[in-house]
Amino acid sequence: MQGSATASEDDGLTALFTAALAARERAYAPYSRFAVGAALRDEHGAIHAGCNVENAAYPVGTCAEAGAIAAMIAAGGRQIRAILVLADSPAPVTPCGACRQRIREFAGPDVPIHAAGLGGLLFRATLEQLLPASFGPDTLGVETPDTSP
Ligand code: THU
Repeated sequence: MQGSATASEDDGLTALFTAALAARERAYAPYSRFAVGAALRDEHGAIHAGCNVENAAYPVGTCAEAGAIAAMIAAGGRQIRAILVLADSPAPVTPCGACRQRIREFAGPDVPIHAAGLGGLLFRATLEQLLPASFGPDTLGVETPDTSP
């Protein structure tokens, strides 16, 4: 992201952008050649990042968002407060359907999902906007911690 906004001024988006950009540079995407980075902030304020990891058996590849979520869980986080997805694309790259559901497990309806290109932010929506009327832990009667942003 360009400019000099501090984390408090930009709601922490610069830090998410920087982490997603760095993760994207380490993406393993020899088949699609479409490198993606994702970064999220958890309930402790910690940032976790991931990149896409493709596989010769194509369906086995994983998205950047899945990597970021796995990193959060491994570090002890359980709640996504915000997530940013970054790719070199003029059109915003929003999470695929499966990743929207992955995010849903750890985020409430008002959690912001940002999409960025290399030059900065392109798009923002809430999880509810990207995955309305969704199925989640509550549907199964499973209690989750507070997942508001
Ligand atoms: N991809 C992601 O990692 N995240 C998204 O939100 C969209 C797509 C990856 C999957 C695959 O490795 C490549 O981008 C092309 O689909």
